[in-house]
Amino acid sequence: MNGRIPAGKPVIGEEEEEAVLRVLRSGQLAAGPEVQAFEKSFAEYVGVEEAVAVSSGTAAIHLSLLSLGIGKGDKVLVSPYSFVASVSPVLAVGAEPIFVDIDPVTYCMAPENMVDVIDHDTRAIIPVHLYGQMADMDGILKVAEENELKVIEDACQAHGAMYCDKKAGSVGHAGCFSFYATKNMTTGEGGMITTDDKELAETARMLRNHGKGPQGEHETCGFNYLMTDMEACLGRVQLDKLDSMNDTRRRNASIITEEMAPLEESGIVRTPVEVEGRKHVYHQYALRVSREKRDPLVFGMRKAGVDLRMGYDRPIYRQGFVDMDSPCPETESACQEVVWAPVHPVLDPSHMRRIAWGLKQLLR
Ligand SMILES: Cc1ncc(COP(=O)(O)O)c(C=O)c1O
Repeated sequence: MNGRIPAGKPVIGEEEEEAVLRVLRSGQLAAGPEVQAFEKSFAEYVGVEEAVAVSSGTAAIHLSLLSLGIGKGDKVLVSPYSFVASVSPVLAVGAEPIFVDIDPVTYCMAPENMVDVIDHDTRAIIPVHLYGQMADMDGILKVAEENELKVIEDACQAHGAMYCDKKAGSVGHAGCFSFYATKNMTTGEGGMITTDDKELAETARMLRNHGKGPQGEHETCGFNYLMTDMEACLGRVQLDKLDSMNDTRRRNASIITEEMAPLEESGIVRTPVEVEGRKHVYHQYALRVSREKRDPLVFGMRKAGVDLRMGYDRPIYRQGFVDMDSPCPETESACQEVVWAPVHPVLDPSHMRRIAWGLKQLLR
């Protein structure tokens, strides 16, 4: 790739083209065999009994909440440092989001910050495996067990990430994935719920299809959150490539980390930390700099042809659709100091060295 280095780019090859053409030519664009086949292989990959394909990661979180019976009068612990869709489904079901500050090293919700905010209305936790590294699931499961809370993993950025020997999406009551175009694997738009709970999966299957039950009757008020066969066939091909695409992300990330070592030693940057026992799949490479340096760095890199991105620049509780006062100091700092460097698998080591060179020039 010459010229500009984009922030994200899907790896689409002949296999994807052939799969989509095969489905187009079959005439069965929806409700065909591809969705079921994708669900089966995704469940096997994650290591769960059930996978329910839906139209987006947002739909996956929405249906997981509904299927677990969470709604009006309930409280759900959420991360303020994430994409808005980690929280908007909580409001959509009529529940109240309770914001829990993050761990400054992993950027994921810290279990020690949950204890004081739990009360008798709290029903669930939505830990976000942010940037491709899983949250502290031992700590979160302990809090959940002690307080009888459901755990819905937001694994929308963590396809293939591991916590000890467990894959993201196999640890909580439900796991939610997004297959948006820039994710670690893509179907264009799309999502998946993973679970060992057959009842949850059945309810989600009904809700994604207008509330239609096994007898064909519309038993409950549902949605059209279905995945098409064209998306599912793409997903099957992408799933086969996921581990190797993640390996490339990890290699690309390690090149920047190595190149940044002198700047890290002098305290100018903080590179991502892969916690022992976890496998980071680098959906984003989060580099931390001082707040004074952040904006000039982003503009300087863009001028040099590298699409460095500002990370999440405000906590979700300060987005217009929430607008709550919920001070979370670690989140506030991360919102002012994090940038995302491209590490997606279309990039090779020479791109990574170009990115690192630009960062060094601007941060010196
Ligand atoms: C952490 C997180 N949660 C939820 C979502 C929502 O996924 P989708 O865009 O597929 O609805 C995303 C995707 O951008 C995400 O990054």
